[in-house]
Amino acid sequence: GKRRTTRDIALMRQQGEAIAMLTAYDAVTAALVEMAGVDMILVGDSLGNVVLGYDTTLPVTLDDMIRHAAAVKRGSGRALIVCDMPFGSVTDPDATLRNAMRILKETGVEAVKLEGGLAMAPTVERLTAHGIAVMAHIGLTPQAVHQMGGYYMHGKDDASAARLREEAKALEAAGAFAIVLECVEPALAAEITRSLSIPTIGIGSGKDCAGQVLVVNDLIGLNTSKPPAFARPRADVAAIIRQAVGDYVAETKAARQPITLPRRAE
Ligand code: KIV
Ligand code: NA
Repeated sequence: GKRRTTRDIALMRQQGEAIAMLTAYDAVTAALVEMAGVDMILVGDSLGNVVLGYDTTLPVTLDDMIRHAAAVKRGSGRALIVCDMPFGSVTDPDATLRNAMRILKETGVEAVKLEGGLAMAPTVERLTAHGIAVMAHIGLTPQAVHQMGGYYMHGKDDASAARLREEAKALEAAGAFAIVLECVEPALAAEITRSLSIPTIGIGSGKDCAGQVLVVNDLIGLNTSKPPAFARPRADVAAIIRQAVGDYVAETKAARQPITLPRRAE
């Protein structure tokens, strides 16, 4: 079939059809998650933690994102592809526009995503004015981990909840086509979802968002450390890999070779 567009995503929101989104960082995984029916693929800067072995998303570069987004695009044909703008690539509207253009021109993905609230609204407006599809991201924004002082639920007190409502409205008004709510109190996430006409995409924010997104490795159990509590893995791919490789190693080592070394010349 043909590739999903931002209009399809808007229509799904209008018709109450939930949106399924998952991350992918390579061509094979993109092809597989798409065959299984996801509507959108996120090339997340979780790339840093999941694939590149960093502790946070902060070291991920624009070149890293472009290389992996291009691979995901090559492996897919039906899902709408969104590429994260990494830490340091959204410092002002001009720089962000230049960097978003590089992502779109060099990878062929359909949209970019950037983290941040009110301060990012003018940037979102700038990008959309230039014809770029932008997904916003508020609540827990991992690029701000040191500023926020860790990873925790957002919107628990009145001030934080009011702030999130205001950010969601501002980002919708700025032209975002969707907005990720990460680790936002479920009741507040539901309220924000009802208050917007663009879809909210939840992660760790309860079941009442317009769609859901998850890191694919957390979903399929392809990790060496514990996934976040909200992830609920549906498979244990790490165990499958350990088993297959263990069998291979045992079989290889069982096939002992006769020791017939050539005689050394005297
Ligand atoms: O980088 C990422 O994977 C994300 C999602 C978890 C929302 O931003
Ligand atoms: Na991200």
